[in-house]
Amino acid sequence: MERTFIMIKPDGVQRGLVGEVIGRFEAKGFTLVGLKFMSVSKELAEEHYDVHKERPFFGSLVEFISSSPVVAMVWEGEGVVASARKIIGATNPLSAEPGTIRGDFGVSVGRNLIHGSDAIETAQKEISLWFNEKELVTWQPTVKTWLYE
Ligand code: RTP
Ligand code: MG
Repeated sequence: MERTFIMIKPDGVQRGLVGEVIGRFEAKGFTLVGLKFMSVSKELAEEHYDVHKERPFFGSLVEFISSSPVVAMVWEGEGVVASARKIIGATNPLSAEPGTIRGDFGVSVGRNLIHGSDAIETAQKEISLWFNEKELVTWQPTVKTWLYE
């Protein structure tokens, strides 16, 4: 089953939106398989956003992600990678549709609340960067027959 990496960024935690964000993924019907509340080292933030290392915002982004705790999660479900990106909304919260997390709660690209893997391959890379195998729980929610035909 497909999995994606989701992180509630420092602003999402500081603004008390952890329950709101997790609730949206739960209500959608995705399955939580990994969850931890943690401080992020500069090294981990740099590795996570390595693809952006030449961009002008890289330094401030790494600084921000390591400035205050985050919630790191792995969610599972059919099509979860692309669907999570839709639930999250556009990178710039001012362009994100209402009903999305960024559209409902954000106003600034540098404070856009949440990260979601952008492709299946990226998701696999990010999951193994943030979690070890023992921290991921494979389980069968009993509600599954009411979610999938
Ligand atoms: P993310 O990786 O955090 O889920 O966000 P994303 O895919 O929607 O956007 P991406 O292009 O990967 O950018 C990563 C993060 O860098 C910050 N950013 N700042 N100042 C800027 O122009 C700018 N552009 C991007 C955002 O926090 C974005 O989420
Ligand atoms: Mg991205």
